[in-house]
Amino acid sequence: MRFPLWIAVGALWLAAAALAETPAKRTYDSHHYYVAEMQATQSCGDTVSPKHVARALGAEIVERVGELNDHWLFKALKSDKLARRSVLAEVDEQDDPVLQRYASWKHANLERRTCIGDHCVSMGCLTASVRTLERQKVRQRHKRSVIYDPKAMRDVYPNLLPPIPATEAWMKERAPVPARNWTAEFAETFQVRDPLFYKQWHLVNNELPGHDLHLDGAWKAATGKGVTVSLIDDGIDYSHPDLAANFDAKGSYDFNDHRELPEPRLADDMHGTRCAGEIASIKNDVCGVGVAPESRVSGVRILSGPISDADEAAALNYGYQTNSIYSCSWGPSDNGQSMDAPKGLVAKALLNGIYNGRQGRGSLFVFAGGNGGASDDQCNFDGYTNSIYTITIAAVDSQGHRPYYSEMCSAIIASSWSSGKGEMIYTTNVRGEFNRTCTSSHGGTSAAAPLVAGMLALALEVRPDLTWRDAQHLLIKSSTVTSPDDPDWQRTAAGYMYSHKFGFGVVDATRLVSEAKKHTLVPPQAWYEMPRKNVSQSIPPQQSVNSTFTITREMIEQANVGSLEHVTATFWIRHHRRGNVKVVLYGPHGTKSVLASPRRYDSDTNGFPGWTFMTLKHWDEEPVGTWTAEVSDHTKAEDTGNMTEAGHFEGWSLSLWGAAKNASFARPWNFPKDSEEYTMQLSAAPSTTVLGSLPAQQSTSISAESSRILVKPTHALPTDHFQDPGEANHVFGQSYSPQKPEADTAYLPWSSQLSTMAYILAAILIVALLALAAYMLFLRYQARNSGRYQHVPADDEAIQLNWQPGQRGSSQLQTRDLYDAFALDDDEVDEDEASAPTTPVDSDKPTQDAPPAPET
Ligand SMILES: *[C@@H]1O[C@H](CO)[C@@H](O)[C@H](O)[C@H]1NC(C)=O
Ligand SMILES: *[C@@H]1O[C@H](CO)[C@@H](O)[C@H](O)[C@H]1NC(C)=O
Ligand SMILES: *[C@@H]1O[C@H](CO)[C@@H](O)[C@H](O)[C@H]1NC(C)=O
Ligand SMILES: *[C@@H]1O[C@H](CO)[C@@H](O)[C@H](O)[C@H]1NC(C)=O
Ligand SMILES: *[C@@H]1O[C@H](CO)[C@@H](O)[C@H](O)[C@H]1NC(C)=O
Ligand SMILES: *[C@@H]1O[C@H](CO)[C@@H](O)[C@H](O)[C@H]1NC(C)=O
Repeated sequence: MRFPLWIAVGALWLAAAALAETPAKRTYDSHHYYVAEMQATQSCGDTVSPKHVARALGAEIVERVGELNDHWLFKALKSDKLARRSVLAEVDEQDDPVLQRYASWKHANLERRTCIGDHCVSMGCLTASVRTLERQKVRQRHKRSVIYDPKAMRDVYPNLLPPIPATEAWMKERAPVPARNWTAEFAETFQVRDPLFYKQWHLVNNELPGHDLHLDGAWKAATGKGVTVSLIDDGIDYSHPDLAANFDAKGSYDFNDHRELPEPRLADDMHGTRCAGEIASIKNDVCGVGVAPESRVSGVRILSGPISDADEAAALNYGYQTNSIYSCSWGPSDNGQSMDAPKGLVAKALLNGIYNGRQGRGSLFVFAGGNGGASDDQCNFDGYTNSIYTITIAAVDSQGHRPYYSEMCSAIIASSWSSGKGEMIYTTNVRGEFNRTCTSSHGGTSAAAPLVAGMLALALEVRPDLTWRDAQHLLIKSSTVTSPDDPDWQRTAAGYMYSHKFGFGVVDATRLVSEAKKHTLVPPQAWYEMPRKNVSQSIPPQQSVNSTFTITREMIEQANVGSLEHVTATFWIRHHRRGNVKVVLYGPHGTKSVLASPRRYDSDTNGFPGWTFMTLKHWDEEPVGTWTAEVSDHTKAEDTGNMTEAGHFEGWSLSLWGAAKNASFARPWNFPKDSEEYTMQLSAAPSTTVLGSLPAQQSTSISAESSRILVKPTHALPTDHFQDPGEANHVFGQSYSPQKPEADTAYLPWSSQLSTMAYILAAILIVALLALAAYMLFLRYQARNSGRYQHVPADDEAIQLNWQPGQRGSSQLQTRDLYDAFALDDDEVDEDEASAPTTPVDSDKPTQDAPPAPET
């Protein structure tokens, strides 16, 4: 009943929304924005429209929220004049007149009629028509352009902690195989003339044959024709000669500057262009070539400034009938301390994309697994990457090993090539003043995810009918084991090899396309939800608590689950330090999923208040039998003191997701009614997407500033880009093992001493250079003055006052030069300088504070 009614109500407004083709420009500095979730009620019919509600609240209607049917965006002038000066300034919610008015409706006399203009309705109908009203906060979303490396980021990690001890021997290096000239053969077969193609080892690897995407078979069948991949990122240099021909303007939009085309405008807006180049660089005489050179790319720009949840929700569904795949290399901070999931509008948008995107087959959301490996961050602490609706990709270096930055978790489906072991990804770059710009230093998990997005474009060309779950089935079937000696691989009960580092392995493009060709579509989704089981047991220090749950054949059959795919498990655990908790789930046949492994830098005291983990490791296994959850404490002996209880295992629940046994009984997952998790009051997107969680200084300005403070992959990777001894080789989840106290740390004092010494040396060097600069300036001043005045002024203070401002300026310059010198700015490989785009920062964006006035 709800739907037909609502369609009638919304028709007018849908028409209005259709007229305004692109989203309206936002004015976050002067206005507050609100999202109202509307509902039609039987007795009131279509008497209340979103426009009436907006006016009754003292707001005006802006538009529908993206593709979310009954969500409407309102705006109202900020009530406080002072707050109107800045995007980020807000009036307290208690003092917000719109929210106050909405709150007052609760006490209103429902019989009373109220008139909005000349339209009169009962208060009962007015209040019943609004399910929720939520004020929007604007926040900065994090690109995965930052590698969180504690050794390089003392401001985020003031106390360096020793790496997790290794538990196994070093893995064998693969000996280089004598090369046939694979690259030349491939270039000849497919007529590739791009000058950088020979450097694109991820496409065809001459030195380590097989350590590449295995494209030849795939390209014989598909090049991505007819498939559009959208980069939700910081823009695309859409007129770059490598991208212009494949750029799709219709699926593109700029949510930061509210323009139709996602032009990179800030100095560090290069990320999206580089990712787009990996996917759809055309075959020509510029740079290299993309994985799917005849696919199209569009850009949805959201990472170049703060946006609201409503904008993010709209971005995730932008053009979702033409954009088939969304490549997302961003998410909550990878600092090893946060735990956050998309909620409310953003979660709804993801689900909306799954059910309604791509003509109902489901948008494919490909996410980078995260760059927090060095700080023990894990993709199961990030609700975007551990969602069953996203495809999470880890990185593999050219030798086939896990690069130290790539995060591990049981939600990784597969992996692809990226930077590490001194090699990086060659791709297209934002043009500077000249054209033809390329980069030789793209990397991080940001670079791995677009490669998979590109391969999925090849698969969708041969099989446009694949659903979002078919895409996941195909990735699992077509991934191959890398680093076979890595101790984390386990043969699952279903017979797959799985690793928390690589998922089911490295995606093989030729296998993906050939599997796609012969694939039989899977039946619709079905699921079984185990009710919450209360455990209520104390977790003694350094001990573990088990809880089991037995799934019977009847439960599974009643739930219409034919075969198992994703498993999600929600945990309620109190603990004095979240980073010391390990959570493992054992399937009925011994398949072991590590859901949470200890995190050195996570001191949060809130434990896991109903956090949902996801594991793919039980894919296709028989679910009937006893599932065991093991929660253990890994507080170090010296920290346990007189503690009798390290934490409390309150309870858990388990959901098994799979393919329906009988498709005629299948029904869509009803959001949010079908989930305990979503019926809890969860309203906002991850709070860690707020810049405040990053090092200081950033609250004043956004991207330009952060790019200077934080180490970017282009800067951090070359210096420390080799395997971190002892760390990269351990079995995920076998760390801080109480039985193995502090073994294997011999190299530690040396390495930390070395880095301390390096810091001291660098500091001495800077001081010396500054002193030298000051001295030279002084000499220059003396020389100039002596020319002008004949004699040196006797008054020392006069000199001081005179040249102080000049000295300040030059010393600042010196520091920045030094910074850049250390940063190894070897970005460009083309003959042209790739200076940042010259477009100035848009005036209605927060700009950097003016340099401080000189002191006198
Ligand atoms: C492969 O052939 C290309 C083109 O002839 C040449 O530039 C390249 O150096 C060759 N590579 C190897 C490893 O022989
Ligand atoms: C760069 O390319 C654009 C579009 O392809 C063209 O209009 C422009 O003239 C080129 N600029 C230079 C300096 O070659
Ligand atoms: C489990 O604990 C929760 C929270 O204390 C409580 O609401 C719920 O009723 C309990 N469930 C059972 C089955 O005891
Ligand atoms: C918990 O279960 C696992 C797997 O069955 C087992 O290896 C472990 O010893 C158990 N721990 C406890 C404390 O019973
Ligand atoms: C811990 O135990 C030691 C000796 O067993 C005792 O001296 C100390 O007071 C205890 N500390 C606390 C906080 O109970
Ligand atoms: C599915 O259920 C329908 C309705 O009960 C039945 O007619 C059909 O045979 C079932 N199909 C399978 C494969 O069991």
